[in-house]
Amino acid sequence: MPPKDIIIDTDPGQDDAAAILLALGSPDEINLLGITAVAGNVPLALTQKNARIVCELAGKTNVPVFAGCDAPLVRKLVTAEHVHGKTGLDGPALPDPDMSLQDQHGVDFIIETLRARPVETVTLCPLGPLTNIATALQRAPDIAERIQEIVLMGGAYFEVGNITPAAEFNIYVDPEAADIVFKSGVKITVLPLDVTHKVLVTPERINALRAQATPVCDAMADMVDFFERFDTGKYGSDGAPLHDPCVTAYLIKPELFSGRFINVEIETLSELTLGMTVADWWGVTDRAPNAKFMGDVDVQGFFNLLTERLARL
Ligand code: RIB
Ligand code: CA
Repeated sequence: MPPKDIIIDTDPGQDDAAAILLALGSPDEINLLGITAVAGNVPLALTQKNARIVCELAGKTNVPVFAGCDAPLVRKLVTAEHVHGKTGLDGPALPDPDMSLQDQHGVDFIIETLRARPVETVTLCPLGPLTNIATALQRAPDIAERIQEIVLMGGAYFEVGNITPAAEFNIYVDPEAADIVFKSGVKITVLPLDVTHKVLVTPERINALRAQATPVCDAMADMVDFFERFDTGKYGSDGAPLHDPCVTAYLIKPELFSGRFINVEIETLSELTLGMTVADWWGVTDRAPNAKFMGDVDVQGFFNLLTERLARL
């Protein structure tokens, strides 16, 4: 099977870094065509810089990095420095990037790549707010039928919200963008909090990373050491959830995950539940299914894969 051609759309973010590193450590399964940064965890000026820092950490400076949208479609940007630190990549002391940012806008890169490559051969992997993806779909509706699949981290059902009682951060930051994506008709697979809150980076798992004794695994362990303090304090859990690498792990070993093809709609009107992914998990409506919504994961299988692939870099 040839590697999957993908574009990662991201707001690094320590967990985004894990997802990018997992992709870069898996060239037999993933061909990373480019990385488009979006405003989310921290402002765009930092997410585009952090994406380049991660590529340099992995020694993969050939991966083009683009800056995309610096604000949600219609709302004010909400960021998450309280989780990720003021740089968005707090933890390890990593040098500023030497590799340059591409001049082209990230949204134009997405459109151009989809139009240039054969139909249904490029997978989009959003790991942050869906602003870039929605903007590309609005600006070039013809690309919808050209996308192989959108595999995204976002939303929640049984786990409800992490930024409000009802909403997960990526969807909450730009609910209008999420609404456009979920109504686009594109094949969508969702890795929600229901799955990501199961992949907790316990001390044993951090130690397994450090035991690899490589600069990448050490840096990842330092990122997690920083990143986990918020979630362990909030949930009293034995480690932080590593949200975004669930997307890359799904592309590499989908058998690690299970879920249902259901209807998912986005709340864009109520201030109380803004950004909620209203997932018809029990099929109680006649709304047409539009997304494969993951509900479970082989947790140790996930961490074995993550550790083994990061150790290759
Ligand atoms: O809610 C978790 C998501 O929000 C992750 O993608 C994390 O990086 C933040 O973007
Ligand atoms: Ca993210």
